[in-house]
Amino acid sequence: MRTQRSSVVRPSGLRWPARLTVLIGMLVLLAVNAQAAEPIVIRFSHVTSEATPKGHGAMLFKKMVEQRLAGKVRVEIYPRALKFNDDQALLALLFGDVELAAPSFSKFRSFSRQIQVFDLPFLFSDVDAVNRFQRSEAGVKLLDSMLSHGIKGLAYWDNGMRVMSANRPLRTPQDFKRLRFRIEPSAVMQAQYRALGVATVPMPFGQVREALKMGLVTGQENAWSNIYSKGFHDFQKYFTEARHSFLGYMLVTNAEFWANLPAEIRAELEKIIAKVTDEVNKNAREKAESDRQRVIDSKKAEVITLTDADLEEWRTLLVPIRKKFESQIGLEIIEQAMQANQAR
Ligand code: LMR
Repeated sequence: MRTQRSSVVRPSGLRWPARLTVLIGMLVLLAVNAQAAEPIVIRFSHVTSEATPKGHGAMLFKKMVEQRLAGKVRVEIYPRALKFNDDQALLALLFGDVELAAPSFSKFRSFSRQIQVFDLPFLFSDVDAVNRFQRSEAGVKLLDSMLSHGIKGLAYWDNGMRVMSANRPLRTPQDFKRLRFRIEPSAVMQAQYRALGVATVPMPFGQVREALKMGLVTGQENAWSNIYSKGFHDFQKYFTEARHSFLGYMLVTNAEFWANLPAEIRAELEKIIAKVTDEVNKNAREKAESDRQRVIDSKKAEVITLTDADLEEWRTLLVPIRKKFESQIGLEIIEQAMQANQAR
């Protein structure tokens, strides 16, 4: 009698080759399920310390995501340019090496000339005016102005009005003679300092403290929280509050990454970002006051406020810069920004 071979139908009703196929199918399904259960990772790279409004915002974002999307989304934060400086961060975002970044407005110039509006000297009267413009139709549209490059703006985050510093009091434009200022890589700032007769050195934020210490640059401008957290006042004796421009950020993501998120996760992240944005902006106002006071209390530096007559001289020199950037930014956007100076 011949023995039956493996082609024989087993009690399960399947021949061996068929059973193998089912087994492989089940393994593939298991692997797919295991993959689906892996949390989505959001890497957030930025350049300031945790003790700044942006650093605070990044940590709060992580905390809220961990509470509300536990097991579904994981956030990794890379502060203090530990992973990328601002210029690199935008490329990293496009290459899928990070998912969130919040560079200052000047860093977006290669992707949107319109965003330069935020850096124009003496355009916005104060932070409230900046915020009104950001909520206006033109301001909301700017969040989408880099979509064709694959960058999506999610929110505006504040820091504060910029303050200029040097080792001599800067009261009038004549006081700037022969100084060398570190600037962000910004054509507007370059034009501003050219008008003041100052040499400029564009440099990543992370290198400024050392450059001031070594005397590679002899002046700089930044918001109080950046100045204090980096200790620029260890090397700069005089800080002038001209209230000429505002340092703020756009929180951005890779547009494709964002569009491909599951809808319910994207919606929850949007709610979290709205809450975090409120907190960041509240924190920015507090820090603009408290870190200013800390610099004064350190007794290492003096804060200079300008008289109306001094300010008039500054404005005469710096407001015309607007004209140079009108065609790049768009007159309509500049006009909407000016309208935002009128409180409603
Ligand atoms: C700078 O480059 O000085 C700032 O934009 C840094 C920052 O992100 O606040």
